[in-house]
Amino acid sequence: MIPTQLRTRLEQHVAAAVTSREAAVQVMKELQGHYGWLTDEAVGEAAQLLGLSPLQVEELATFYEMIYRRPVGKRVVHVCDSISCWAMGGESLLAQLAAHLGIGPGETTGDGMFTLLPCCCLGNCGESPTMMIGDNLYGWLTLEKAVEILQQESRSMME
Ligand code: FES
Repeated sequence: MIPTQLRTRLEQHVAAAVTSREAAVQVMKELQGHYGWLTDEAVGEAAQLLGLSPLQVEELATFYEMIYRRPVGKRVVHVCDSISCWAMGGESLLAQLAAHLGIGPGETTGDGMFTLLPCCCLGNCGESPTMMIGDNLYGWLTLEKAVEILQQESRSMME
């Protein structure tokens, strides 16, 4: 059950959109923000708000990499594995970050802090290799720089 304030805001998003599908990503993102991931309950609520079937919402959800249909850590680390980043060492960076965190790609650390996910181009090819955490984009990465960023993210969660 979502709070009234959130429901009202989501209804406003839907009302302002030309089609309900146009509002779908925003609705799913906000529900995900509330639950931590897009739970089955959230899919049902999104469907009701958007006037779509749960299956239609499911189809949209699985299309977008930033919508999570499984539990994730407090911070999701998206490491780009598209061509520019790959050419600049992104594959190695992903492997090193996985080793540093003690998890594999697609997994979450035992403390629930980080989920590591390879992803398609983040639109920051000129600063490859690149990763994204939340709405923050980080480029020109080295392992040392990436680890420092993870430590900052971790600290910010504890404040
Ligand atoms: S290829 Fe990595 S940001 Fe574009």
